[in-house]
Amino acid sequence: MPRTSGLFRTERLSAGACQTDRTISMRSVSRIDEAREWRARLSGSVGFVPTMGFLHEGHLSLVRRARKENEAVAASIFVNPTQFGPSEDFARYPRDPERDTRLLSEAGCDLLFAPEVEQMYPEGHETFVEMGATAAPLEGARRPGHFRGVATVVLKLFNVIRPTRAYFGRKDAQQLAVIRRMIRDLHHPAVIVACPTVREADGLAMSSRNTYLSPEERRAATVLHRALSAARDRWTNGERDAAELRRVMRETLDSEPLARIDYVSVADPDTMRETDVAASGALISLAVKIGDTHLIDNERME
Ligand code: PAF
Repeated sequence: MPRTSGLFRTERLSAGACQTDRTISMRSVSRIDEAREWRARLSGSVGFVPTMGFLHEGHLSLVRRARKENEAVAASIFVNPTQFGPSEDFARYPRDPERDTRLLSEAGCDLLFAPEVEQMYPEGHETFVEMGATAAPLEGARRPGHFRGVATVVLKLFNVIRPTRAYFGRKDAQQLAVIRRMIRDLHHPAVIVACPTVREADGLAMSSRNTYLSPEERRAATVLHRALSAARDRWTNGERDAAELRRVMRETLDSEPLARIDYVSVADPDTMRETDVAASGALISLAVKIGDTHLIDNERME
């Protein structure tokens, strides 16, 4: 459970190239009324980065981008129970609120909203966002109810923070498609900004769950990026047959004994529907279990 950070201010001096001449403080709140009060004072643009904490460079790149593009920046840390299945890792999801607070402050965040579960889902809560076809395949099929939980909490967070722009990583490509669909369908005014996946030096996409990997599993996990790169190379050399690209990904993944394939996919990035022809813009994605850890990755064919 995320520890309540309470109400305190983290004083931060001259962090970031464009902020050298002023003292900036990040406010950290755990209650919805406190976050609303912060928001109510602002008339300019607000960039928002929702997270589940245990931050890495991927999250921080979103905060920095939000900092560049908005007058104020908010981030949330909330490990959202409704997006975890009963046998998933909610209880053991990694948490480090003190480090997260420092990193957010250094990255230029103005408000950290870190509510407890009871704030977000008080007794009697019963309303959810029901997603359709975009949420059904791939991660949606593997994790029933996952995107219902994601869409619900994102909308609830948006209703508190009322962001002008909200920043999401491309690593969670289906999450991005689901949120874009929801925003369109529910006429929400937030602009969704998709940001590049940040990778380790050996190509592994950054993820809070990478911390679960043993050294041997960590080495094996590079196979995800290798499989995507193999398919990308074929595509760059003119291969447009989606079945062939799926085959290439499977072949590479099968070469790693520690990797068990959940799916490989070549799909439309907006609808997540599988495609026969990998046209420009197609999304190739895969999900693999290494040990007990579920890892995903993707690339756009552009
Ligand atoms: O991507 C995540 O970390 C989560 O799914 C999100 C968007 C913060 C919702 O809980």
